[in-house]
Amino acid sequence: MKPLRERAKMEYLECLFCQKKFPLNIFNPFCPDCGAPLLYFYPPQNKELYLDKENPLERALDFLPLNKVNLNLTLGEGNTPLIKLSGIMNQFNFPSLYAKNETTNPTYSFKDRGTAVALQKAVSLGIKNIGTVSTGNMAASTSAFGAKAGLKTMILLKEDTSREKLLSSAIHSPTLIKVKGDYGKLFYKSFSVGKSHRIYFMNSVDPFRIEGYKITGFEIFLHFNQKAPDYIVVPVSSGGHLIGLMRAFLDLKKQGLIQKTPTFVGVQAKGCSPIAQAFSSGYSRVKRIQKGRTIAHGISNPDPPGGNIVLQMIKENNGFIIDSTDKQISSAQKSLAQKEGIFCQASSAAALAGLYKLSSKTQFKPEDRIVLILTGSGLKAMEELSSMTFPLHKTSLPQLESLLNHHF
Ligand SMILES: Cc1ncc(COP(=O)(O)O)c(C=O)c1O
Ligand SMILES: [Zn+2]
Repeated sequence: MKPLRERAKMEYLECLFCQKKFPLNIFNPFCPDCGAPLLYFYPPQNKELYLDKENPLERALDFLPLNKVNLNLTLGEGNTPLIKLSGIMNQFNFPSLYAKNETTNPTYSFKDRGTAVALQKAVSLGIKNIGTVSTGNMAASTSAFGAKAGLKTMILLKEDTSREKLLSSAIHSPTLIKVKGDYGKLFYKSFSVGKSHRIYFMNSVDPFRIEGYKITGFEIFLHFNQKAPDYIVVPVSSGGHLIGLMRAFLDLKKQGLIQKTPTFVGVQAKGCSPIAQAFSSGYSRVKRIQKGRTIAHGISNPDPPGGNIVLQMIKENNGFIIDSTDKQISSAQKSLAQKEGIFCQASSAAALAGLYKLSSKTQFKPEDRIVLILTGSGLKAMEELSSMTFPLHKTSLPQLESLLNHHF
């Protein structure tokens, strides 16, 4: 590996709206002028991917806000498979369709990508306490990485979070606190309590978390022999993941490694679709909705903190934000399980549901390559299937043979 270029001593975050830079304050990464989440600022620099590196963070180091990677902190995140969805392609006559299967991450969701980079940053800055506001995947991811690094971890939860949902983070023994009150406000409150107690809340639109999500984009670029696919379809809630993925391809374009970025398609559940609603109305700002109602709990954020950034970036890059009904999401989840053998959660299947909708409006070219990001495992959200019906045959040992004769 070539020697790393010296990074500037002073680190900055930038506001996309005010176009201003601010010195890094990891405990409060919001624009003091307009309140928007700040993104990491990189001075202009030639960058490359280190293809000989197996660890995805080391491979992408030039594009990350880190000086080096501490391999003692990794849980084996990333390097997830790209799987051709031949069954669904054939059924719907789609051009080449692939799934980037993020369910194979250490805590079974894409959140590990962002947590890994935020954790590297935390440890490099000597931070001892980390936290997040989450009910699901991000809580599990932050708890697991916090345990690996030996940091104190605090998880702030909705008052009504079920015990089952908590188990995948509780097993790592973080401090779990249920907070009564508006969940959207809890997100912002976490930063003020974080500042006073020196807890780094690496929440959904944390600037280092977002940089971690870029690595998925770089892996996709490498899967396609250093080319961009034509479409990337991704479920959207707070917006952090989509912002990171778009930034990856914008970085590659800036470095002259690709000519054109993919068309990004963000998908929300119709029952909680504030960003899709703003997009279809042509607004440049997202209006918070009162309460989300969808089976896709992972993408049910009525007040998405990254929503305005998503809208701006999607417009600048000719993408789309669309919505899908619960029925479409549920049927997409079953298609992925039954045609492709992939059990992802409803929040992830929203990507396929979105593609179905897009295909009714867009004429794909036969040579197009489409990638769905399957963000999290179905095993993490079994409650979504509580009302699923399926045939269950019963027989006795002597009658098993005749039952099989009937079915095969
Ligand atoms: C499974 C799953 N998919 C997608 C998302 C949406 O990601 P973001 O909030 O970064 O938009 C989440 C968020 O929690 C999730 O859990
Ligand atoms: Zn601003």
